[in-house]
Amino acid sequence: MELGDSGLTIAVNAVMSLTAFFLCLNIIPKFKEMFLKANLCGIDLNKENKNKIPEALGVVCGAVFLCTMFLFMPMPFYKQLADNTPGKFPHHEYIHYLAALLSICCMVFLGFADDVLDLRWRHKLLLPTFASLPLLTVYFININATNVIMPKQLRWLLGFDLNLGPLYYLYMGMLAVFCTNAINIHSGVNGLEVGQSCVISLSVLIFNFTEMQGEHRMGHVFSIYFMMPFLAVSTALLFHNWYPSRVFVGDTYCYFSGMTFAVVGILSHFSKTMLLFFIPQVINFIYSIPQLFHFVPCPRHRLPRLNPELGKLDASYTVYKTGSLNKMGQIFVKLFSLFRLISVKEGVGENGLYTQVNNFTLNNFILRTFGPLHEQTLVIILLAIQIICSGVAFIIRYQLAKIFYDS
Ligand code: UD1
Ligand code: MG
Repeated sequence: MELGDSGLTIAVNAVMSLTAFFLCLNIIPKFKEMFLKANLCGIDLNKENKNKIPEALGVVCGAVFLCTMFLFMPMPFYKQLADNTPGKFPHHEYIHYLAALLSICCMVFLGFADDVLDLRWRHKLLLPTFASLPLLTVYFININATNVIMPKQLRWLLGFDLNLGPLYYLYMGMLAVFCTNAINIHSGVNGLEVGQSCVISLSVLIFNFTEMQGEHRMGHVFSIYFMMPFLAVSTALLFHNWYPSRVFVGDTYCYFSGMTFAVVGILSHFSKTMLLFFIPQVINFIYSIPQLFHFVPCPRHRLPRLNPELGKLDASYTVYKTGSLNKMGQIFVKLFSLFRLISVKEGVGENGLYTQVNNFTLNNFILRTFGPLHEQTLVIILLAIQIICSGVAFIIRYQLAKIFYDS
C-alpha cells in the first residue's frame, strides 16, 4: 500500500478529528429541539422524572464523521494527485476508503431507520449483513485473502495455513452483525453504549500505533485514519450522553460504531485482535443467549430498574409461569443457577404460580452481585471492566499468542 507520507497525513487527520470533536460538541445540543419536534425521543426509564430525551443523536456523530472522512480521503494520496500522471493513481487503494465509508454510511442510514421505525429483532440482525456487502465485494475484488494461519500445535495436521474460501466471507459478515448488535445489547445505562465504544477505539488506536513500525504498517495507518475521527465524535457524544443523559445515542450510534470497528478490523487485517477488544460484549452476548433465542422470555427492555426509595438501580427480572419453559430453557436456567450466574425465585406472583429470574445481561449480573448501585457508579464499573478487558486483550495478543503463533 503506497499512501504517501503517513506521518503528515496522520497529523492532518488528528487536526481534522479535533475539529470534528468541537463541531459535534457544539451542534449536538442545537439538534435537540429538532429531534423532539420530530418525535425522535425516549423516556429515561431509570429516572423519576419522565421527561422526553431526544434520541438517535448518533446520526449527528455519524454525519460529522462521514463528512470529515470525505474531506480527509484525498490526503493520503496527495502525492499521486499532485503528480497527476495518467494511470499512476492507485485506484485499488482508493476504493478501500470508498467501500469502508459506503458500508458505514449504509449502517448509519439503516440504524436511523431502525430508530424511526423501531424494527423487530430479526430485522436488526439482517441490517448489518446488507450494509457489509459493499465491503465484502471490494474485499473479494481487491484482496480475496481467505486463508487463516494455523496455531503451531495444529500445523502438523492442517499445514501452515488453511484456506476457508466462502466461509471466510461468512465470518466477515457475521463479524459486522456481531459488532453492531453486541454494542446495542450492552446498553441501557446512561453513557454505556458510547463509553464502551470510546474505550474500544482507544484500545485499537494504542494497538495501531504500537504496530505501526511492523510489516503491516499501512493497514494500521488505514485504521488510525478511521479511528481518530471516530473517537473524536464519540467523545463529544459521550459528553452529552453521560449521566444524567441530555441526549440518547439511539441504535443509529450502536450500528455506526459496530460497523466502523468491523470495517477497520476486516480491511486492516486484525479482526481477531479486534474481537479481543470485545471481551465484555462477547461475555454479555453469551450470557444473553437464552433470552436472545427466546428459550427464556425476553422483555422489550432488559435494562436495570430504578429503586425509587434508594435512588439506586436494582437488577431487572423476567417472570414466567413455573414449568412453562421448554427443555432448552429449563436446562439454561438450571445450568446458570448452578454456577450462580442468575437469581431464581420460585413461587412469586398470583397464587405463587410464577418464577422470576434476573434478565441475562452483564449489567444485571453486576447489580445482582454488588447492587443496588447508583446509575453513574454502575456505568463507571462497566467501563472499568471494559478497560481491564482491553488490558487482558493486549496480554493475550502479545504474550499468550506466542504460544500458538510465531510472532
Ligand atoms: C436493547 C436491549 C434492551 C435494552 C435497550 C436499551 C436486548 C435484546 N435489547 O434494545 O434490553 O433495554 O437496548 O438499552 O438486550 N434507555 C434508557 N436509558 C439509557 C439508554 C436507553 O432508559 O441509558 C431507554 C430509553 O427509553 C430509550 C430506549 O432505552 O428510548 C432505547 O432502546 P432501544 O435502543 O430502542 O432498544 P433496543 O436496542 O431495541
Ligand atoms: Mg439500542
